[in-house]
Amino acid sequence: MTDLKGISVVASDADADSEARRYSRREFIKRVIASGAVASSASFVMGGLAGCAPRRAAVAGSVERLISIDVNGQLRRVDVLPQETLAMTLRYKLGLTGTKLGCDRAECGACTVLVDDVPHYSCSVLTHTVRGRKVVTIEGLASPDGRLHPVQQAVVDEQGFQCAFCMPGFVMATVGFLKVQPNPTREELAHGISGNLCRCQDYDKILTSLMRGAEYLRRA
Ligand code: FES
Ligand code: FES
Repeated sequence: MTDLKGISVVASDADADSEARRYSRREFIKRVIASGAVASSASFVMGGLAGCAPRRAAVAGSVERLISIDVNGQLRRVDVLPQETLAMTLRYKLGLTGTKLGCDRAECGACTVLVDDVPHYSCSVLTHTVRGRKVVTIEGLASPDGRLHPVQQAVVDEQGFQCAFCMPGFVMATVGFLKVQPNPTREELAHGISGNLCRCQDYDKILTSLMRGAEYLRRA
């Protein structure tokens, strides 16, 4: 009896052990699934909250989105996506629509702005790369008292453009070129701004305007 009882007790213990093992395995799997679900829902909630938060802690390896850039002499605070181009930021975040978007692929020059006094196609510059640099757009050329830049004034005087969609890009490219060559020949200026295209193909009159701009600038 005792033996039988003993055997019986041993058998019950073995059953209990096996049941406990099955239970723990089942429990373990359940917990893994549950914790995974909790982790995903937690990250979903955190992502949602973070998306609404005005500031987000920078995650290692990520790009900070809220940045300051110097545009037309003013420090502008702006929320910028990692892949955002300067043209998009200027036009659609800062309202500087004088910078035009033609091809959006570095071919036409309509989006030209100055970065540290050098003409750049803003459609092909990532906004994050201009932190700490000086950006000037067509809106930043005139004096604070409203007086036009000599190149702008020359365009007005010569009426060198037809639809003028390409005009801001040509003016910015010319202003940048004149910083390194203030007294160009017509051919030199034509070569210097050859990265800009005009769909109306009014190149002769455009060049006449811009040459006059160079002359105004030398006199200024
Ligand atoms: S829009 Fe940038 S080069 Fe055409
Ligand atoms: S004047 Fe029309 S695109 Fe240049």
